[in-house]
Amino acid sequence: MSLLVPTELSDCAEKLIRGRHATRGFRPEAVPEDTMRAIFSLAGAAPSNSNAQPWRVEVASGATRERLADALRTAHAEKRISVDLPYSEDMYTQVLQARRAAFGAQLYGALGIGAHDHEARADYDAQSLGFYGAPHVAFLFVTGGGGARLAADAGAYMQTLLLAMTAYGVASCPQGLLSFYADTVRAELGVGGGQLLVGVSFGYADEAAPVNHVTTGRAALEEVTTFHG
Ligand SMILES: Cc1cc2nc3c(=O)[nH]c(=O)nc-3n(C[C@H](O)[C@H](O)[C@H](O)COP(=O)(O)O)c2cc1C
Repeated sequence: MSLLVPTELSDCAEKLIRGRHATRGFRPEAVPEDTMRAIFSLAGAAPSNSNAQPWRVEVASGATRERLADALRTAHAEKRISVDLPYSEDMYTQVLQARRAAFGAQLYGALGIGAHDHEARADYDAQSLGFYGAPHVAFLFVTGGGGARLAADAGAYMQTLLLAMTAYGVASCPQGLLSFYADTVRAELGVGGGQLLVGVSFGYADEAAPVNHVTTGRAALEEVTTFHG
């Protein structure tokens, strides 16, 4: 049981949850192994339906990370796309598209890439297959028969992992883009089965990188929440 009184705990939660940001520029230093073990143990405390814990996480560092980055760049160049969980632009309604566009304008603006410079945007996406320079990447697989409900459980694991990293001073970027090369990831890591949901690049933030100063807003409380009396 926590010894913190609610106010201290809520203060911590505010700092932790609002202090996490997607980081897209990393320093090369590795995260110590004991810190990694603490982070991934904490992430395992994530909730899931009936406590089934339908996830499996594969963490790549060092030579494996280098090999993976090369393999992903090659797969990208050869257009060898393999997606386990279906993706379509159609899943985004107009409201969602507008939020995505606002985010894209901020991100690419910070990078000095123009709104209609599709080539430069594509180049940046290709570069991001090098994990934004992060020394580690965690691949999160949904296990079991798949489907939206199990993926939702894995999503809860992902957010718990991101917050655990933040708590230990480790920066992260979830990268859905990495899930478009599921077969490449499986082959390089020698894993069978599972559905690749997302890759999470992580390490220590390069605070000097302008891209790390992009701030994202959120929809207003009333826009997404209704309190029924
Ligand atoms: C499932 C998921 C997939 C994401 N995929 C990418 C990605 O492929 N590339 C990237 O740079 N950021 C990616 N992001 C980061 C989002 O762009 C970011 O979380 C969002 O813009 C909100 O910004 P914040 O995390 O800094 O609060 C992803 C985030 C999530 C949760």
